[in-house]
This record gives sequence, C-alpha cells and structure tokens, in this order.
Amino acid sequence: MNDLTQATGEQTAAPEEKILSRYICTANHGFAPYAQEELRRLFGAVKSTLLLPGEIFLATLEGEPEEVSRVLSANLPIFLRHIQPVQFQDQGDLSALERLAVYLSRRSELEGEKVSLHVRKGATSFWQDSPGELREWLQERVQSLEADFTVQDPAWVISVYADGEALYAGVSRPEDNLSSWNGGMIRFRKEDGQISRAKFKLMEAEKEFAIPFSSFRNAVDIGASPGGWTSFLLERGLKVTAVDPALMHESLRNLPGLKILRKNAGEVKFRDNEFDLLVCDMSWSPKLMAKLVTGLLHSLAPGGTAVVTVKLMHKKPLAVIKEIIAMFEGERMQVQRAKQLFHNRDEITLYMIKY
Ligand SMILES: C[S@@+](CC[C@H](N)C(=O)[O-])C[C@H]1O[C@@H](n2cnc3c(N)ncnc32)[C@H](O)[C@@H]1O
Repeated sequence: MNDLTQATGEQTAAPEEKILSRYICTANHGFAPYAQEELRRLFGAVKSTLLLPGEIFLATLEGEPEEVSRVLSANLPIFLRHIQPVQFQDQGDLSALERLAVYLSRRSELEGEKVSLHVRKGATSFWQDSPGELREWLQERVQSLEADFTVQDPAWVISVYADGEALYAGVSRPEDNLSSWNGGMIRFRKEDGQISRAKFKLMEAEKEFAIPFSSFRNAVDIGASPGGWTSFLLERGLKVTAVDPALMHESLRNLPGLKILRKNAGEVKFRDNEFDLLVCDMSWSPKLMAKLVTGLLHSLAPGGTAVVTVKLMHKKPLAVIKEIIAMFEGERMQVQRAKQLFHNRDEITLYMIKY
C-alpha cells in the first residue's frame, strides 16, 4: 500500500511544502503525450505515470485543487479530455473497495445530493465484473449518504478507477472534470439508417460546445459526402448547401431544403453573407483545408458560426493547430473552442464565430 492510502484528503504536502494535487487524466488513444504537454505548459513540471498507454495517466500537479480547476477552466485544453481527482488510493482488491465505501460514506458534502458515480476499469483490473456492477455494488454500500444517484445534472461526481493493482477515487464538481461524462466518453446510439458515424462528431460538438444549431437558418457543409452532417443540420431545421465532388447518400437526394453541389470546394462561388453557419469535415491536409475554407468565409455573415475539423497529419499537432488557428483568426474568426472530441480520431474540432 502506498502512503497516499485511504482518506488522504484533497492534497498532500511534499517535503518542500509544495501543495500537490493528483489526477487521473484521459485523452483519445495515442494523444496522451499531447495532453501531458498541455499540462506541462500550464503547471510546469508534471510527474506522470501511464495507466493505459497513449490514453490514461496519473498526473501530479503543483497547486491546490481549486487552483488547478481555475487554471484549466481559463485555459481549456485541446487534448486533455477528462480529469478526475485522486483523493483516495488503495491496493487493488475487494478489501480496498470496502475501505472506499467507508471513505465515501464520510464525505458529508454528498449527503442528500444529486451524485453521479462514474466507474472505469483499467486494461486489467482486480474487479472481474463490469464497471456497471461495481457502480451498483458501491451505491449499495454508501446508502447511508441518502444521495440521489443520477446521470443527469449531478451536483457531485464520484469517480472510481479500478486498475490491476490499485484502486483510485475522488469526488469533484462535474465542471471540474473538463467533461461531465464518465472519462469524457459521450456515446450516442446509432440510429436506423444513419448515414455516417461522422454524424456523431457534430452531435458531440452540439453538446460539448452548447452550439444552438436550431437557431441557424442557412448552412453550407463543405466536404459533405456521404451526408451525416448534412442530415443532422436538416433535422435541426436548417436549409443546407452541401459541397462535395463525391456522391451524397441516396436518402438525401431531392430534398426541398437541400442543395447539392458536386464540386470541389475550390470551385464553388457564393454570395457575401449568404450563410449563418459553415461546417467543414474535409479530412484533408490542414493547411489546404484552411486555405479553401478561409476562401469561402466571405459567404458567412458576421456573427455566423463555423465548425471545422482539423486533421492532424503531422508529428507536431500543437504547432499545426496554432498555425491553423492563426489562419482563421486572420479572417475575422474568433475561436470559441478547440478540442479533440471523443468522436474525433486523428483530428480536432474548431468552433468559431465570425466578428
Ligand atoms: C470525412 S468525409 C465527410 C463526412 C461527412 N461529414 C459526413 O458526416 O458524412 C470527407 C469528405 O470530404 C470531401 N472532400 C475532400 N476534399 C474536398 C474538397 N477539396 N472539396 C470538397 N469536398 C472535399 C471528400 O470527398 C469526402 O467525401
């Protein structure tokens, strides 16, 4: 058992009296090194241990938890998808789970509150059953709290990570976890007849960035085929102009609110301020994409919104992203958020507003 076992409180004092906070940090698979780099840039030296290669790591940051939350919310990271505090650490076995239940039962701030219990397992875990079963097991054990266990709008989140040889847990406000979903994993059910999985990216952007899609009227979708994003925008009641040399899905042909231009984005001509929403999911070299899209920005009215995926083809994604953002900012676009969504693969999503 290590010296941080059980009910250690929110922080530990290192010999030189620095306040340290510990977190389990999650990024999309393969992007943990960039999430670590983001933390280094914000907090200086970061001690970190990989829990799941390329994806999940345990980080020790200098600063009190409140300070960490403040810095992160003022500098929202791109690749760090989710963090959960580690205030309890124990060995990985059932007796440790019993101790965790006692520890949680004593967290009086949870009493009678709406609480989400998020449970994840490592690649190997001492807990053989599903995370859902562990959640139910723990919920039973902390009944004395009389908490209202819920998924929607909790006041508090209990995050538990059951790894091969260790059990980690912490309690936080949902807004301090960078994402209110367990591990930042938002899942949507695939609909019957759904045209592409790419649609999930725009559905996630809607939730993550709180984009009011139904408030727009006229959208252009660049790189639209086969039409997942277009179908999403049509469902939100928008008129859509879809640009792509490739064919759109047959279910999207001859729809009244949809104009299909089977052309390269470099060949189309639009009027000034024609659209109030521009989306682009072109899977193309980031610089060429930015060149093509900025060439069409005159058609986006001031106050209009743009949602653009940026493919990360290079070895230095942070530098590429900086360059692409500068290209858009030079064209009166203000970046609201840049984030690698759970449904983004080797790319990130930019959410921008034109001024
Ligand atoms: C990832 S797919 C888009 C998926 C789409 N968002 C959906 O939800 O179904 C990328 C598309 O970009 C298109 N594309 C690539 N370069 C383009 C260009 N220069 N102009 C227009 N479309 C382009 C490709 O033909 C391809 O259909």
